[in-house]
Amino acid sequence: MNQNNSINIGGLEFSLDELAHIRPEKDLNKLEQFYQDPTLKNFKLKGNKVRDLIVSKLNQSSDQFEKQTGKRPGLGIIQSGDLLQSNTYVKIKEKKAVEAGFNVFKAKFKDCVDQKMIEDKIIEFNNSDLVHGFIIQLPLIPQEKFNIGELIKQIDPTKDADCFHPYNVGLFYSGDGYALAPATPQGTLMILQAYGIHLEHEDKTIYSAAISGRSDIAGKPFGRIIEAKQNNYNVDYHLMNSRTDTKKFFKTGLYNILISAIGKANYYRPEDVPQTTKIIIDVGVNFIKNPNYVAGAKGKKGREFIQVGDFHKTAYEKAKIVVPSPGGSGPGTVAALLVNTWKLACKKENFL
Ligand code: GUN
Repeated sequence: MNQNNSINIGGLEFSLDELAHIRPEKDLNKLEQFYQDPTLKNFKLKGNKVRDLIVSKLNQSSDQFEKQTGKRPGLGIIQSGDLLQSNTYVKIKEKKAVEAGFNVFKAKFKDCVDQKMIEDKIIEFNNSDLVHGFIIQLPLIPQEKFNIGELIKQIDPTKDADCFHPYNVGLFYSGDGYALAPATPQGTLMILQAYGIHLEHEDKTIYSAAISGRSDIAGKPFGRIIEAKQNNYNVDYHLMNSRTDTKKFFKTGLYNILISAIGKANYYRPEDVPQTTKIIIDVGVNFIKNPNYVAGAKGKKGREFIQVGDFHKTAYEKAKIVVPSPGGSGPGTVAALLVNTWKLACKKENFL
């Protein structure tokens, strides 16, 4: 908290009053006691609420932005193919960007697309005065047609809303300061900040995390986010890849934060989560057949596929605090993408 009693989340300032409907306690001392309560279990952080708070703050700011610059922040999205996950992600990114007062420029290609067509779209977005930041929704389908690394290198680093370009990745990993961060870990960090969860406030315990999955989008940058001094999070971490017996390491009890981003539906069970676990961060976004599916039914039953995380929901009951899936890091990712786009837009248009 700074001298004006405001709290910085993703570069945006929020008063305690604004955060009151998200936090379990408004008073900071009571909040601390709430998280210290030894009986606290399975307290699920609501990523949707945090995302919507950020979206509404951006909406107010976008109006000011337009008054001063004559433009709205512009987000570009490039997608290819019809993967269920990607369609779901893109739909919500688009919807929330519009709610934030941004313009959205979407380029969706069919399977017949090739590398050159995507390159042409990247060049178009790089040169557009209306697009301040853009993303290539991964994976591009059909995957074998694309060299993703080469495509990402062609994105103008000043328009790299995902923070995937090697220049921005370099800044992110080097030194103590960075401006942009990959959206998935940044989104989770913003959720923790909105709830006033500081990974050292409890008893100065040295926090230690086990991270399952070493992807460049999630697992790897998660480590960077939680050890970065600039976030005041001094967490040691153990990054594990798919050949590791991750359950064995989770079970040791050496780690009070368990993070998974491996995309294996309901993989971790209660027996894999020790009682000492303080935080579970479930980054898995998996779609499985809905066991209660009824064709033509309304609501949940009518959905053929449902979203689950990497942890089975019974495993959450072993931890004090949970960033769940769905409803946690997914909406956080969307909020962080908008925050990144906002920062790029402010820089480009000299908006303070
Ligand atoms: N696919 C899954 N997550 C992401 C993400 O955060 N950004 C992009 N561009 N593609 C993704």
